[in-house]
Order: sequence, then C-alpha cells, then structure tokens
Amino acid sequence: MDYLKIQGIDSLNGTIQISGAKNASLPLIAMTILAKNKVSLKNLPHVADINTLLKLLSNLGAVCTTDETSTIIDTSTLNQTKATYDIVKTMRASILVLGPILARFGHCEVSLPGGCAIGQRPIDLHLKALEHMGAKIDIKSGYVQATAPNGLKGCEIIFDKITVTGTANIVMAAALADGATTITNAAREPEVVQLCEVLNNSGVTIEGIGTAVITVHGTNGKLINIDEFSIIPDRIEAGTYLCAGAITNSELTLKNVNAKHLGAVLSKLEEMGNKFTITPDTITIHPTANLKPVKIITQEYPAFPTDMQAQFLALATQAHGVSIIEERLFENRFMHVSELQRMGADITLNGHVATVNGKNELSGTDVMATDLRASSALVLAALVADGETDIHRIYHLDRGYDSLEKKLQAVGATIQRLKE
Ligand code: UD1
Repeated sequence: MDYLKIQGIDSLNGTIQISGAKNASLPLIAMTILAKNKVSLKNLPHVADINTLLKLLSNLGAVCTTDETSTIIDTSTLNQTKATYDIVKTMRASILVLGPILARFGHCEVSLPGGCAIGQRPIDLHLKALEHMGAKIDIKSGYVQATAPNGLKGCEIIFDKITVTGTANIVMAAALADGATTITNAAREPEVVQLCEVLNNSGVTIEGIGTAVITVHGTNGKLINIDEFSIIPDRIEAGTYLCAGAITNSELTLKNVNAKHLGAVLSKLEEMGNKFTITPDTITIHPTANLKPVKIITQEYPAFPTDMQAQFLALATQAHGVSIIEERLFENRFMHVSELQRMGADITLNGHVATVNGKNELSGTDVMATDLRASSALVLAALVADGETDIHRIYHLDRGYDSLEKKLQAVGATIQRLKE
C-alpha cells in the first residue's frame, strides 16, 4: 500500500494545472449508455474512481479505449445489466448506471452500496423517483432489481432532499422516457449542469438547466447521438490547491479552472484575508500572512460545498481566532478531526459542528486518511506542520486527486509517494 511522506513548513510557488472534474466525469461516463454512437470524452481526470466506472462498463460489455487526450466509449456492445457488489462496494457512484441501463434495457440490477465512512448515504430518493416513472423496484439479496418492461414514463418528480447523483440518475432515465419528466428540487451543481448540457446538445431537450426545476423531454426509447465533449475543471481539486496556497502563505496560479464554479469557496477564502487575481481560466492566490477565522455551513450548490469542509478545517487551524464549521450534508464527515488533533489542532467537535481555536502549531506524525476529502485536509496540515508527516491509506486520495504529489512537487512541496 502507498503512503505519502510530507516535509512541513514549505512555501509553494508556481502553477498547477487543474484536471477534469471527477464528479462531472462519472455521470457523463454513465450517460454513454444512452448513446447509439461511440462517445469521445476529453479531459477525464486520471483517478481511481474513473477507472472503476470504466471497468464497470467494460464488465457490462462496453468497449472503452483511452489515448493521450481522450477516452472513447462504445456501449453498442453492452450485453449485461447487472452492476455487481465487487465494483459497487468500491465506489458508491456506480449507482449512476441504474437510470441509464433501466431506460435502455427495461431492466437493471445494481448492488446496494451500503453505508460509507462519511455516513449512511441512502439511495431511497433515486428509487422512489424511478418508481414514479413506472419502474418496479425490488430489493433482494443485497441488490436493487429494477424493471420497466413497457419503458419509463415522463412524470412530475419532487425530491424531498436535493441529491446530486439522484438528479443525474433521473435526468438520464428521463432522457429515454416516454414524455416529459419535471424534476423539482433538482441539484444545481455544475457537474449536473454539464450532464444536462451534453444531453441537450445530443437531441434531448432539457429546460431549466442550472435551476431547481428541470424538465427533460424523453426520446421514447430512441438512443441518442453524442458528440465529443470535454469535462469541466474540477472545482474541488481547485479549491484544495487554493487552500494549499492559503495555508502556506504562498503565491499559486491555477490553470484550467472556472472561478464561477468556486463562488462560495473564494468568498470564504476572501473572508479569511486571501486575495486573488482571476481570469476566465486561471486563478492566482496571493500570499497572506495573517489568516482570519471563518464561519462555514456546508450546503448544496451554490452554497459552500461539503467536499471542501475538511480542507477548510485544516486551513482554520492556521487562522488567528475561533472558526466554526458546520456540516449539514453528511452526519459522519468529521473523521479527519481526530487525525488533525493528533497533529496538534485545537478542534472541539459538538455533533455536526467543529470549533477550531487557532492558530495552532502543528507537528508531523503518522496519520491515517479516512475518506477522499479528509485525505487532502491531512496533506494541507502536513504542508505547514513542523517535521515530517506520513499519511497512510492514501488509496482514498487516489480516488479523486489526479497526480497530487506530482502537482505539489512541481510548486516546491517536499512530498513523496512511498510503499508501506
Ligand atoms: C455527491 C458527490 C459528493 C458530494 C455530495 C454532496 C458525486 C459522485 N458525489 O454525492 O462528492 O459530497 O454529492 O454534494 O457527485 N440522500 C438521501 N437519499 C438519497 C440520496 C441522498 O437521503 O436517495 C441524502 C444523503 O444522505 C445526503 C444528501 O442527501 O445527506 C445529499 O446527498 P447526495 O447529493 O445524493 O450525494 P451524492 O450524490 O452521493
């Protein structure tokens, strides 16, 4: 197993190229199940979750080929409709194949994903919405068994809660349904927007893209032609490197980034005293010696993303004063707190609210990554800790960060990937 060794007290300087967004790529790969042509995707990030989903599609019979710049997916050969436990257990987002497979074949089986490190993460809203569309759903032997022998029917869906993969799943199911499906309380994340835009450019008319009410006009079972497209930049990766600049008091330029997707993150960094220069596809963060404390509540887009909570918690340890960070989306998403405390962070956890009493002198030690974003919080803390930090179980990090150690090395960090 790999681990990262990071030498602290580095100041960084230089440019980091941001990769394509993992959370945009996953639904867009699943979407290729709806295509009648071979689909070419550009700017997919090199991260484990993408390989997992491509493997799942290959297991189902699709042919996926990758060259330097693009991945081509041919789902015309798809001949299986069961997403098995061995893959789904490694990546919950495998549930994204449910909507498109059901829409195309009229039946689909997907292993129930179960809980995960950050909370229960049920899929009840996905299933309820598919039932509204006419699917029959059974849960048997740990699998969701969905059938719709007469196809899915357009209808009105009101999500009780905003769900990102739930919205993506239903948009994809609705794309081949008979008639129009209106989703109220839809997710507005840029990743959902890109899915809708690509479908809209492929002959599936979608109204209300980027709003909380989306109407998808289905093709009544006709597969669609999808032209080549490029994945949007990863706003969470970008946000993480902005935190790396802020925590090390450095000047860093991010390239291939869309500042419009980072509104809440940039606004919180500004509140902490950071300054930026922004162009249409770059953001430069300037050095800031005295970080101010911050109050954050994680919520759905466009509010502050839960996927940046752990990184800001690490950053808050270097701010002068009391920061309060409230997690509203996932009940167990503070596993990184105990690891940060072991490095010397003064954090008090009360339910889903973390209070950080900064500024803390952090010191390097052995720490364990517990989930994807928690891992990057430990990397940030290690960059400013006194001495050396070994971060174990970085397979979590590899799920979502493309070449993290190489990108950080290139801007001056002392970071190595080693074998246990
Ligand atoms: C997606 C992102 C993840 C991010 C999360 C919230 C992907 C691949 N993952 O996850 O990085 O942290 O959005 O922004 O895009 N819920 C239910 N029932 C459901 C579905 C969700 O109760 O059927 C609840 C969840 O437990 C959670 C909330 O709704 O409390 C939001 O979850 P959701 O938006 O579905 O998260 P994911 O799509 O799994």
